[in-house]
Amino acid sequence: MIRNLVLVMVILGLVSSCKNDNQNQSDYTQVSVLETGQEHPGKKLMEVNCYVCHSPTAGHDSRIAPPMIAIKKHYLTDGISKAEFIKNIQSYVENPNEADSKMPGAVKRFGVMPKAQYPENTVEQIADYIYDYDIEQPEWFDDHFKEQGGKGHGKQNGRGMQNRNKQQASVSDSTLTYEEMGLKYAMNTKAELGKNLMGTIQKKGTLAAVEFCNIKAYPLTDSMAVVNQAKIKRVSDKPRNPNNQANSSELVHITKFKEDVAAHLEPKPIIEETDETVQFYYPIVTNSMCLQCHGKNIEPEVYKKITALYPKDKAIGYIENEVRGIWSISFDK
Ligand code: HEC
Ligand code: HEC
Repeated sequence: MIRNLVLVMVILGLVSSCKNDNQNQSDYTQVSVLETGQEHPGKKLMEVNCYVCHSPTAGHDSRIAPPMIAIKKHYLTDGISKAEFIKNIQSYVENPNEADSKMPGAVKRFGVMPKAQYPENTVEQIADYIYDYDIEQPEWFDDHFKEQGGKGHGKQNGRGMQNRNKQQASVSDSTLTYEEMGLKYAMNTKAELGKNLMGTIQKKGTLAAVEFCNIKAYPLTDSMAVVNQAKIKRVSDKPRNPNNQANSSELVHITKFKEDVAAHLEPKPIIEETDETVQFYYPIVTNSMCLQCHGKNIEPEVYKKITALYPKDKAIGYIENEVRGIWSISFDK
């Protein structure tokens, strides 16, 4: 039935060169639009910050983290208040660790969630949205959940349930703003890279993942570009691959984004338009996982491999929540 709610919104983006399941075609369900046409701000924040890993559409076997709906079901315990629900989500995100996990199975399968910092109120808004609204549900989820004996019978859908039908609104690509289109391209590419990177780290270790980044980062970004009919680049002021050196205008934007991130502000995409094209910029921020290859204490074996592949590497010494680079994306109007 959730399927009936699935709208066209973001279909174009997620198809990729890698072995995605066909299920991936469902994409974003647009259920957060209020009657006023206003979207709950937590929805977009969740899509931008969490779906990279908690994608609702990745197939069961290509997942790197549980879908958000699974998290909702484990956290929405009987009788829990919204304030408590939000607090529990916030405290896990602030300090992910095995002892506090309500989903030990997920920790076992995926490892503990990488620690990342988010701008003020971001997680609160996201949790607020998750509590109140129906969120997307991948097709396999229902069965999988039943198989597990349905732990955590909470309210199934939060209070958004009764309004569900009213909340549908058709949003097609052509109604997205340039900012939203750019974000969509960036987040889809990030999800694709992130999924492959984390999957490789989980299954084969960091050393093998270096090789993955070396061989696959470019082709993956490129194939996302083809699918999206956009030019997609990841550039940095301190590049690992010299081809990813930011140009002078990109450097200016990097400086601006560094200020935003340091001030814990939700970064706003920068848009530059010409008559025919749109140029979009958005920061790429580190989390704890990145530090394995970009941090201060990289394992000697890993670092040796990195410097062998990139003798001019500048991309080390980072800590969490720093601007590692930016998405620089251009597309036709
Ligand atoms: C880089 C990948 C990644 C990102 C980004 C990410 N998560 Fe997670 N998250 C995971 C993984 C892996 C797990 C499962 C392991 C665990 O529970 O720690 C998880 C589990 C969780 C859990 C369940 C914790 C538990 O075990 O009780 C919550 C809550 C959560 N994430 C919230 C969020 C929110 C909110 C966001 C966005 C602001 C987010 N996550 C972004 C990877 C990620
Ligand atoms: C397993 C090692 C590894 C991990 C973990 C890793 N990277 Fe990288 N990263 C690389 C390699 C290798 C390259 C060079 C890829 C290429 O040749 O294009 C790279 C390149 C990049 C680039 C392109 C600019 C440049 O420096 O060439 C960005 C941006 C980037 N990484 C960000 C991140 C972020 C953010 C994370 C965490 C979410 C992360 N990386 C995690 C190995 C890693």
